[in-house]
Amino acid sequence: MPPAAPLPAPRATLRLDARESAAGQGAIEAAAQIIAAGGLVAFPTETVYGLGADAGNPRAVAGVYAAKGRPAFNPLIAHVPHLEAAAALGEMTPAARLLAQAFWPGPLTLVLPCLDTDAVCELARAGLDTLAVRVPAHPVARTFLEAAGRPVVGPSANRSGHVSPTDAAHVLNDLSGRIDAVLDAGPSPVGVESTIVDCSGPEPRLLRPGGLSRDRLEAVLGHPLPDAQDEDEARPQSPGRLASHYAPRATIRLQADDVRPGEALLTFGGRRPPGSEAARLILDLSPAGTLEEAAANLYAALRRLDAEGVDAIAVVPLPREGLGEAIADRLSRAAAPRPVPEGD
Ligand code: TXA
Ligand code: MG
Repeated sequence: MPPAAPLPAPRATLRLDARESAAGQGAIEAAAQIIAAGGLVAFPTETVYGLGADAGNPRAVAGVYAAKGRPAFNPLIAHVPHLEAAAALGEMTPAARLLAQAFWPGPLTLVLPCLDTDAVCELARAGLDTLAVRVPAHPVARTFLEAAGRPVVGPSANRSGHVSPTDAAHVLNDLSGRIDAVLDAGPSPVGVESTIVDCSGPEPRLLRPGGLSRDRLEAVLGHPLPDAQDEDEARPQSPGRLASHYAPRATIRLQADDVRPGEALLTFGGRRPPGSEAARLILDLSPAGTLEEAAANLYAALRRLDAEGVDAIAVVPLPREGLGEAIADRLSRAAAPRPVPEGD
């Protein structure tokens, strides 16, 4: 068990509205100033909202771990506005450069050998000699990162072990009173976290499926992308990849071909398996039956089911290709038994 994180001091949390482009610039500037002053600001990306702090400021980074209740052995992703800024932080191995040129800005995080140990402090890296770096595509994120003028750590802006937030209300539900502000740009369009590829070794390895599908990565690499093998379960290579994660309170039954008494139904493409008539609640991740829509709706649906007080959820089988891999990964973690400690 890691030591319990200290309780964060209470703070009033501002909502900075970047949804209207006229007011947005001022909101983004204000958010960047809070980061420069060592504060904590949740910011939008196309995947999920991140909890931002100056990556080079150990006090601010400690505040991120405390606000989330996240174990400090689990390193954070550094967010930067462009490839050149990433290349100053980590060594762009040949595979990393290929993938970065193809997919940045976008929902891809690369793990690289660390070059600059000051700009992303040791605490942010959890003591590793590698670093995870990402260039998000969301226009508000990019302007915010330019204005901040330094790498910004950004774990998902949820309490440790909860599902990631895909809008500002989700962030406030989890972190109100624990962070200085949330920069609100409306719902996150992709809806699942970035795909993480470890490019720190001789061959790239997939650490986490996410918003960029494996087939698109493999098409650019020109060969299959193997999964990273976790040699040590207690300290997996991507330390946040613990079995139970992304967890709502309700228990989840996957691959359901019926709905049992008392269950709510999480469905796809309009499907209504036997027993649906008596379902406590039915949420369709994508009435149109697309995996993009399902990914975008997944976390909001899990939060809604929790908010409705549902105890048990039956989930229909979903297609596995493309974004289906990331959706299946998150659902299987949400369905796993709940040990402690929790992930991120
Ligand atoms: O889409 C995303 O990636 C979001 C947005 C906000 O950018 N961020 C996010 O961060 O999902 P987080 O902290 O919830 O997940 C980051 C994952 C963790 O599982 C962590 O263990 C892993 O990245 N990670 C960070 N640094 C690493 C490193 N040097 N080596 C291996 N894994 C690393
Ligand atoms: Mg997370």
